[in-house]
Amino acid sequence: MTGPPQSRYPEEYARGAAKEHSKPMPIQATSKIWHNGSLIPWEQAKIHVMSHVIHYGSSVFEGIRCYAQPRGSAVFRLPEHMQRLLDSAKIYRMEIPFAIDELCAAVVDVIEANGVAPCYIRPIVFRGYGEIGVSPKGSPIEVYIANFPWGKYIAGHGGADVCISSWNRLAPNTMPSLAKAGANYMNSQLIHMEAEINGYQEGIGLDVNGMVSEGSGENVFVVRSGVLYTPLLGNSALSGITRDSAIAIARHLGYTVIEQPIPREMLYIADEVFFTGTAAEVSPIRSIDRILIADGKPGEITQKIADEFLGIANGLKSDRFGWLTPVKVNATEMASA
Ligand SMILES: Cc1ncc(COP(=O)(O)O)c(C=O)c1O
Repeated sequence: MTGPPQSRYPEEYARGAAKEHSKPMPIQATSKIWHNGSLIPWEQAKIHVMSHVIHYGSSVFEGIRCYAQPRGSAVFRLPEHMQRLLDSAKIYRMEIPFAIDELCAAVVDVIEANGVAPCYIRPIVFRGYGEIGVSPKGSPIEVYIANFPWGKYIAGHGGADVCISSWNRLAPNTMPSLAKAGANYMNSQLIHMEAEINGYQEGIGLDVNGMVSEGSGENVFVVRSGVLYTPLLGNSALSGITRDSAIAIARHLGYTVIEQPIPREMLYIADEVFFTGTAAEVSPIRSIDRILIADGKPGEITQKIADEFLGIANGLKSDRFGWLTPVKVNATEMASA
């Protein structure tokens, strides 16, 4: 027999469902990457296949956005992201040899060196090349920060069609969900692939007790009778920076926000449901398990929060919460356009 072997997953292709929603988004290389205190050429930011992280998933990382401003650009909630990176590293006993201010300055440096904005920023800390045993003691900590252009993450203007995943999120005291660790994203991949193969844009994971947790890469909010609800961090959800921003914005706009366990069926009968995340920003959800949310149109409260969020991020509304770190790069386009 000649030619490549038949796919073991023919259903995905037969239905063509996955292709409908997911556009390929190849990484767009920039010029420099920050590595352990220096800027190095993009092509030289390579690691050995025997590095600890490759075998045991020993990485923690961040996803941050830099937005266009009327003049220059600005990174959204940079210190909060870097604090979460330090927290993730602490949980895994990884000693990062840089202080928070140095990490924040490094982000500004790499964006200015590349002159690319708006952009997505990916700081990553991992255990590198040293020993092959599970014990990480003999493997050095490596810190990299890259930035590159990255547009809309959740496709569709009218809201996303999502499903509840058959995969649960991480059980407490197994993989810590407050750490943004690379290894957690094996679970996210299962949730996301299952959703895509079945023709949805995203999947929502329940926690081990069957309560709503989060999307594969987003926090979830529910609106019912003018009140916003979002799962507790104890429901195996990441402490999303955008989640925190949406809560602050909603309260500022005069809404009540309640963090509480959310049963799955509360999603189906909601007036509005939306995702929050650095990549997803504030993204309305149109249907869940093919049940339309209200009339299926993006809700009023979702829209208000999205407008305020993007207004602040793009410097068109007052930075009343002090969320922006300026960068001296003239933006070429709006990241969320
Ligand atoms: C699993 C998961 N939950 C929630 C979020 C949202 O977090 P943030 O708003 O900090 O990007 C992300 C994205 O980083 C994520 O990967």
